[in-house]
Amino acid sequence: MSTTYCVSYGSYYAYLNTGNLPTVDVEIKRFNDMEISVKFRESLRGKHLFVFGEVVNNLNELIMTLDAAKRCSVSEITVVLPYFGYSRQDKREGTRGCIGAKAIAHVIESMGIDRVISIDLHASQIQGYFQVPFEHLSGIKIFEYALKERMADIWDDVLFATPDAGGTLRALKFASACYSKQIVTINKRRDKPGIVSSMELTGDVMDKHIIIVDDIGDTCGTLSKASDLLIANGAVKTYAIVTHPVLTGEAVKTLRNSSISTVLMSDTLDAVSKIKAVQKTERFGETAIQIISCQRLLETAIREIAADRSISHLN
Ligand code: R5P
Repeated sequence: MSTTYCVSYGSYYAYLNTGNLPTVDVEIKRFNDMEISVKFRESLRGKHLFVFGEVVNNLNELIMTLDAAKRCSVSEITVVLPYFGYSRQDKREGTRGCIGAKAIAHVIESMGIDRVISIDLHASQIQGYFQVPFEHLSGIKIFEYALKERMADIWDDVLFATPDAGGTLRALKFASACYSKQIVTINKRRDKPGIVSSMELTGDVMDKHIIIVDDIGDTCGTLSKASDLLIANGAVKTYAIVTHPVLTGEAVKTLRNSSISTVLMSDTLDAVSKIKAVQKTERFGETAIQIISCQRLLETAIREIAADRSISHLN
């Protein structure tokens, strides 16, 4: 197997710092009718190529990149999806609906890829939608250091919280990575997508600092409402960790004006430009939003995989 490798960031991930990864020169053209054409400007023959992709708005670009790579006789292709879009569609919607995550997996795998890397899947069973190996990296590895550094003085009074039942395992993993802290759970109900209709808290949060752990921040209504509930039940302060900043509509404003004191957010999607856009145009509240990049985690995973070394310490 080839030990040389290179990375194609594509147009969407241009904001990610490429660090020391050897990037490949690729031309992505768009025609007037929005068709996309991708061409590599250097030889990739015999190389292990890591292709970064985003599937909600940029699936066509990913498909064309994979097609070009295959035709360049690469030896191996690993698709890197920092955020696996459609992951909230992990089962059939009603009796006549699609399974979005499975359809996306099918399309990507049909391009003849060898492996997929992603971080904090909304539903970990999505790994099984692929026949090829799926490397599921843990978001804890992005936030662990920042969290321990910022919370050092108050650890004895910190608890983790999940804002919905589906996130219980994720919150438990964070808690055990950070000195075996306990968690409290919130039971969230939605009557329609994007609107939280009710929340119930299980556990005592009186006089505690609570870190809310969520995989996705979309409208950020979940985080904001969860924080209000925790504060109303006696929490001293709340903090939030968001792996995937989907940030639609008024999300940044909702966070800024929430009762959360600090939000740590990764950049598996381009959060920075959305946050900056709000700073430029709007008055906003006091909540601090800090970006902790996923770049180092991905770079480590890419180096280990390219060298055929274990990545269990990143799961
Ligand atoms: C839901 O199950 C996810 O884990 C997130 O809590 C949800 O997608 C967040 O959505 P929003 O930010 O729109 O409340």
